[in-house]
Amino acid sequence: MGRLDDHHVLVTGGSRGIGAAIVEKALAEGARVSIIDIEAAAGEALVASLAAAGRCHFGAGSVCAAGDIARVHAAAVKRFGPVTGLVNNAGRNAYADAVTMTEEDWDDVFSVDLKASWLVSRQVLPGMIEMRRGSIVNIASIHADMTYPGFFPYAAAKSGLVGLTRSMALDMGKHQIRVNALSPGYTETFLVKEFFDKNDPGLRQKVLDVHPLGRMGSPAEIANCVAFLLSDEASFVTGANWRADGGLSARFAG
Ligand SMILES: NC(=O)c1ccc[n+]([C@@H]2O[C@H](COP(=O)([O-])OP(=O)(O)OC[C@H]3O[C@@H](n4cnc5c(N)ncnc54)[C@H](O)[C@@H]3O)[C@@H](O)[C@H]2O)c1
Repeated sequence: MGRLDDHHVLVTGGSRGIGAAIVEKALAEGARVSIIDIEAAAGEALVASLAAAGRCHFGAGSVCAAGDIARVHAAAVKRFGPVTGLVNNAGRNAYADAVTMTEEDWDDVFSVDLKASWLVSRQVLPGMIEMRRGSIVNIASIHADMTYPGFFPYAAAKSGLVGLTRSMALDMGKHQIRVNALSPGYTETFLVKEFFDKNDPGLRQKVLDVHPLGRMGSPAEIANCVAFLLSDEASFVTGANWRADGGLSARFAG
């Protein structure tokens, strides 16, 4: 018996990184899993590599496009039944400056890192409301609480996502739908590699030195937390923002 038997979990941005780890964990816990991602080749390769490929559906599309979301959702529901769990994981980093950033760049960041979570939720919520059952997990970031210079406006979008989580948890509670945020710290993925590649070579060690656990997280460790929040074991948890950062944000400078 897995903790997600009888669940159909939709994971956005599930082709690689944290999303792919969530896909693998949800499958290991017994779920049927659907993915929407713009990276079709990586997504299809991931599904082909899975032992439980028969319980995993990949749909190519952008979470910023309502038409793509509707198309992928319809195919997923046709194959696996109504979505009971949603993980809004797709996201991107932002490297910008408040003076030189264009409106187009701003809209691009907010479209993926904030608006998309509402768009995909809007698609799955009617089915969840009808079933009186559902769990949504929004992958935010510790940037919602503390941030890094040169990262404008990632922190603003992720803070907005935590606010969206709270509001949606209040409004959906009466339908027995739980909505939580999971805020990872440094997690070894493409996004973190991209971040270190843009900075001086010594930064990686400096970051490791201030982690109480002395290391960064793995995608699988984030996926473990997400599986709990999706499962019925978290039946009294809603409106929360759970940090998984190896203790980084507990530390005062010095
Ligand atoms: N890695 C970290 O240290 C870290 C820390 C805090 C928060 N996060 C958050 O975790 C989430 C996953 O990050 P990751 O590190 O695995 O990144 P990643 O770049 O490895 O994976 C992101 C995935 O999202 C997909 N994606 C991007 N834009 C999309 C769109 N418009 N439509 C559909 N799919 C799209 C990408 O194709 C990719 O498969 C993001 O929301 C990120 O902000 C990551």
